[in-house]
Amino acid sequence: MASSITIRGLSKSYGAFAALSDVSIDIPAGQFITLLGPSGSGKTTLLMSIAGFSHPDRGSIRIDDQEILDLEPNKRDIGVVFQNYALFPHMSVEENIAYPLKLRKIAGAQRDARVKRALQAVQMDGYGARRIHELSGGQRQRIAVARAIVFEPRIILMDEPLSALDKKLREEMQIELKHLHQSLGRTIVYVTHDQKEALTLADQVVVMDRGRIVQKDSPRDIYEQPKTRFVADFIGNSNFLPLHGAGTGTIDAQVSDAFRRQHMQGRQRPLLVIRPEKLEIVPAGFREPGSFYVDATVGEILFQGDLVIVFARLPNGQMVRLQRGTRRTTLATIPPEGSPIRLALHEEDAIVVEDDRP
Ligand SMILES: Nc1ncnc2c1ncn2[C@@H]1O[C@H](COP(=O)(O)OP(=O)(O)O)[C@@H](O)[C@H]1O
Ligand SMILES: [Mg+2]
Repeated sequence: MASSITIRGLSKSYGAFAALSDVSIDIPAGQFITLLGPSGSGKTTLLMSIAGFSHPDRGSIRIDDQEILDLEPNKRDIGVVFQNYALFPHMSVEENIAYPLKLRKIAGAQRDARVKRALQAVQMDGYGARRIHELSGGQRQRIAVARAIVFEPRIILMDEPLSALDKKLREEMQIELKHLHQSLGRTIVYVTHDQKEALTLADQVVVMDRGRIVQKDSPRDIYEQPKTRFVADFIGNSNFLPLHGAGTGTIDAQVSDAFRRQHMQGRQRPLLVIRPEKLEIVPAGFREPGSFYVDATVGEILFQGDLVIVFARLPNGQMVRLQRGTRRTTLATIPPEGSPIRLALHEEDAIVVEDDRP
């Protein structure tokens, strides 16, 4: 069965440095949660605190209402995939996968059946006799997953398991992990610093910054409604235009009163966040209610195959980024470098956050 995880007030310091500061999260049973944040934000410390390999100074971690902080790692009923896989090089694939069963004194026919099932789950049937050094990176990763699921733990933790793989294999493995989650129905907490991976895999994304949780939401809400500049900047690409102070004169805000009331009023320093794919190119002088407008000049145009990136320079020198698909009819609408253009952002696609940067 899957289990819920309830974390309250978790803190951990190394000397004067706070790796985790007062972290609280509720993870419902059976969810796939990704922990996303830059290097050093405390993701591994949080994951290893759940696993039992890191010891918090304060706080509580409950699994299905049982406090686990005093339990040894192998008494927590949690499967772990470590970042470096931590497979045993001197053992065969089968011995590696059977190791957690050995610890739990499961032997004989039951051991063999479980190892076989775990190998099947990661599509490595028939590889049991191989040595670890005879496997590719992707295969090792699968064996590490098989070893984490073989004893059917209630919770599976994974620390950047795909970071060593190339992009194509990583994307294939992401889909396999998602399917594995659907078939096992276990709670998964998955650490990554790759924002696309975090959005692709998760039911809920937890964004961390400097030992704190800064936002927890569905992938769509994290992308469409980032709560801070940090989240908007870390996830996806964003253009930032201040709606306060000097320089706002270049923005022609023809937005509704409802939008102003809901998103702009009451903020000290409202900052407009614009995703590159939401910007439209409109005719010179175009102005209708319901949008923000800025005039600009086309700068560099980068063709990436599936996407084309267009940089545009605002009158104040700031560069903004637009993104388009590469259908011929779409490409035909992009004026050449040096052309004057007018950009529009519909208020439905606009994000406003508090400008928390000094
Ligand atoms: N054993 C340790 N001793 C001292 N500092 C540590 C130790 N482990 C982690 N840290 C520090 O705690 C912070 C968070 O580390 P970590 O949880 O590994 O971050 P992440 O996984 O997000 O990259 C980092 O600044 C790291 O240097
Ligand atoms: Mg880490």
